[in-house]
Amino acid sequence: MAHKSDFVVVANRLPVDRIVGGDGQTSWRRSPGGLVTAVEPLMRQREGNGAWVGWAGDASDGVDEPIAPFDNDGLTLYPVPLAAQEIEEYYEGFSNTSLWPLYHDAIVPAEYHRAWWNAYVAVNQRFADAAASVAAEGAFVWVHDYQLQLVPAMLRQKRPDLRIGFFLHIPFPPTELFGQLPWRRQILEGLLGADLVGFQTPGGAANFLRLTRDRLGLKPSGAAVQVDGRTVRARSYPISIDVSSFVELASMPEVQERARQIRHDLGDPRTVLLGIDRLDYTKGIGIRLEALEELLDEDRIDASDTVMIQVATPSRERVEQYRVLRENVERTVGRINGSYGAVGNPAVNYIHRSMPRDEIVALYLAADIMVVTPFRDGMNLVAKEYIACRLDGTGSLILSEFAGAARELKNAYLVNPYDIEGVKEVFLEAIEAPRAEQRRRMRSLQRQVTKHDVAHWAQTFVDDITRIRRENREGSR
Ligand code: ADP
Ligand code: F6P
Repeated sequence: MAHKSDFVVVANRLPVDRIVGGDGQTSWRRSPGGLVTAVEPLMRQREGNGAWVGWAGDASDGVDEPIAPFDNDGLTLYPVPLAAQEIEEYYEGFSNTSLWPLYHDAIVPAEYHRAWWNAYVAVNQRFADAAASVAAEGAFVWVHDYQLQLVPAMLRQKRPDLRIGFFLHIPFPPTELFGQLPWRRQILEGLLGADLVGFQTPGGAANFLRLTRDRLGLKPSGAAVQVDGRTVRARSYPISIDVSSFVELASMPEVQERARQIRHDLGDPRTVLLGIDRLDYTKGIGIRLEALEELLDEDRIDASDTVMIQVATPSRERVEQYRVLRENVERTVGRINGSYGAVGNPAVNYIHRSMPRDEIVALYLAADIMVVTPFRDGMNLVAKEYIACRLDGTGSLILSEFAGAARELKNAYLVNPYDIEGVKEVFLEAIEAPRAEQRRRMRSLQRQVTKHDVAHWAQTFVDDITRIRRENREGSR
């Protein structure tokens, strides 16, 4: 085993996924999702011995044959093995069929099964054990997201010397919804093992603190609650992106040329609308397609000059609700193209695969309007990436009120995705907006994103936890 680390990230996934090709060769590819986009650059830029504990994204033959720790671009990665049944019960089951829908307003009904919970407990314990064996004396261990909510308490039990932080990347639900969870008490106790519990929005932190009172009989006061003689704090830390790396890519002549090529291939339309999301039912992909379709049906836009690109990254493909979603989205795309596409010029250009970062940035540069319409989203980094890439100050962002990002990005065209007439009106408003109006909005959005980038997010969290830990130590003397 490699040396111990003084800064350890613990997340369900490693920043890279293991891909085993048909020829049996192993390669590694950047993992999907906003967590990795945000946290990976921080860890790679760190001087010194950073470590990342996580799953390699594939089913191992059994938990007895782990992949050995390895160095990857200056970061030590510690793979945590998951057996096929654990992937079903812990990852697809409890994490993504119980917690994910429950924490996203129960957009689809959450299901609860005791076997899934038991697997969640066992896998959380494995992650906690791995983190405990990797962390140096007094290290900072930063546990991430809903898949690992029991890890803070499990880790504290083994290693009380550690500074333990937890950050939830997705929304934390209203107390009434959280109350559905048969294991609500255990989840709250798990999170309270941290010194600092971070949320995307103040509402999430407030819900959590209220639950510690209602469900555990504790006495939260302000942003803090006392547990076993320790102070645990809960606060919001809106996550962001590594702005400079997106600016760098957007400045590259070859990426700009690729953007021009994309527009040319689309037939140089007047307006290019763009959606980029994991293919997830929280993201509101269907509603934006239906809004587009109705505007075409009503002759309020014309497919010869308004074209949409929808990138729908494959996600959680064995979970039933995701299969149903894929069928629905693809049926709608087919219907729109059947009615309005021309040979070589579909009205909706649909891409269902992962792509390199520079191609994503070229799409941001090619798009006049970015469409982000989730029914609920912890933050939504795609919205921030689009803003960071619009170096010439043009472009418009349509953004759901139900994305965490809407709290900061007030100069976006805000929409209620449950109101299709409202979505249609905002589409038209953004399409018709004069250049000066676009630039005014974009300038303000860029100021916000540039000032609050991911380094600022991490620094605030680390400073806060260092202070809390000091106060706790002084208090216990
Ligand atoms: P979530 O974490 O729910 O997936 P976010 O919008 O916060 O949503 O983050 C998604 C991240 O994944 C962004 O950094 C985005 O650029 C990236 N991404 C989305 N689709 C793709 C794709 N097809 N290929 C590569 N990266 C993608
Ligand atoms: O926060 C959203 C999130 O669940 C992250 O935990 C994860 O990195 C991302 O979405 C992708 O999801 P998955 O790991 O299930 O593919």
